Amino acid sequence: MKKRLGTCCAFVVLLGLGQSLVNAQSTPEDWLIKSKNRAVYQLTKAAETYKPGMTPRSVEPDGSVRLAPCRDWTSGFFPGSLWYAYELSGNKKLAAQAGRFTLALDSVQHFTFTHDLGFMLFCSYGNAYRITGNKQYLKPLENGAASLYTRYNKRVKAIRSWDFGEWQFPVIIDNMMNIDFLFWAAKQFNKPAYFQAADNHANTTMRNHFRKDYSSYHVVSYDTISGKAIHKGTFQGYADNSAWARGQAWGLYGFTMSYGYTKEKKFLAQAEHIAAFIMNHPRLPKDKIPYWDYDAPNIPNALRDVSAATITASALLELSTQVTDGDKYFKFAEQILKSLSSDKYLAAPGSEHYFILKHSVGAFPNKSEVDTPINYADYYYLEALKRYADIKKIDLKLVASTTK
Ligand code: GLY
Repeated sequence: MKKRLGTCCAFVVLLGLGQSLVNAQSTPEDWLIKSKNRAVYQLTKAAETYKPGMTPRSVEPDGSVRLAPCRDWTSGFFPGSLWYAYELSGNKKLAAQAGRFTLALDSVQHFTFTHDLGFMLFCSYGNAYRITGNKQYLKPLENGAASLYTRYNKRVKAIRSWDFGEWQFPVIIDNMMNIDFLFWAAKQFNKPAYFQAADNHANTTMRNHFRKDYSSYHVVSYDTISGKAIHKGTFQGYADNSAWARGQAWGLYGFTMSYGYTKEKKFLAQAEHIAAFIMNHPRLPKDKIPYWDYDAPNIPNALRDVSAATITASALLELSTQVTDGDKYFKFAEQILKSLSSDKYLAAPGSEHYFILKHSVGAFPNKSEVDTPINYADYYYLEALKRYADIKKIDLKLVASTTK
C-alpha cells in the first residue's frame, strides 16, 4: 500500500513538473525586448502624429514623409502594425488607435480596380477581427472578398493583378499574398468558390512563375482565350531573368500560407524549395538581409531590401511549424530578426518619421522608394516578432516597456 502511495505521489509530482514545463515561459533575450519596445514607442508616436486614412508609407529622398491614402495598396499596413503592436504589448491605447485607423479604410471594401484587397483589408480589418472578435469588422471583410473575387478569371485560373500596362492579363508573384484573404473568407462566409479560386491561383502561379532553381519571375501575363502564359518578365526587379528579392519572399510566404489552408503537400514542397533558394544563395550577405535583387549588378555594393528580409522571416517562422525539421527555418529567421535589431537597421527612437526599420527598396528600376523605411517592412517585422514570441512561448506583454 505504502509503495503504491509512493509511486502515485511520484507520478503526481512528475505530472506537475511536466505541466509547469509545458506552461513555462522562456525568458526573452535583450535583442527581442529592444525590438518590441522600439516598435511600440515608434508606433505610439506615429498614431498620435498621423491621421486615419492618410498613413505613413515611406520617406521621400527630400526627407519628407510619403503618405498612403485609402486607395494606396499599402493602406492596410499601418493599422495592421498597430494591431500587432497591441498584441505584443497589451497596451490598450494602441488597440484604440488600431481601431480608429482601421475603420478609416471603410471605402476599400468596394474597390474592384486592384488585387491588393488582401493587403489593404486583411492586414487591417482581418487582424482587427482576429484579435477582438468584434463583428463590426466582418461586413467590410465580406464585401472586400467579393470585390477581390471579381478579378478571378476562370479561363486563366488566376486573379488579375494590375489594370495598367501593356500586358493582356498580368499576374505578379506578390498576388500570392492576396489569396490569404480569399482562403480565409471562403471558410468564414461559406463561399467554396473563393477557396477554389485561391487554390487555382496558387496552382497556376506554381506552374508558370517558377524557374528550375525555384526562383520566380515577377510578372507573368496570360492569354485570356487560351489561358496560356504568353510573357514572363519583371517590373520591379533588375532584369526579366533575375531574382527580385521581395518577389522571392512573397512566393515563400504565399506557398507556406497556401499549404496552411489546403494541406496540399505540393505547396509545402514548393515553399521548402523557395526557402532553400533563399537560404543557400551564394550572394546572400552574412547578416541575412538580402540585396534588393539577388542578381543586382553591383553586389556587394548593392542596396539591401529590409522588407524582403522581414517577409522572409515571418514566412520561415510559419514554415518551421509545418515540418518536423523546422529548426533550420526557425534559426534562420532568428538570425534575420537579430540583425534587424541592430542600430544599422532599427530606427533610433523618434527618428525616421516614426517608422521602425530603415533600408528597404520599393521599385529600384522606377527610382521609387530606394533605400527608405517602408510600411510593409514594419508590418511583417511585427508579425515575425509575434510569431517568434509565440513559438518560443514568450509573453512580451509581461516585459515592461521601460526603454524605447
Ligand atoms: N506588391 C508590390 C511590391 O511588393 O512592391
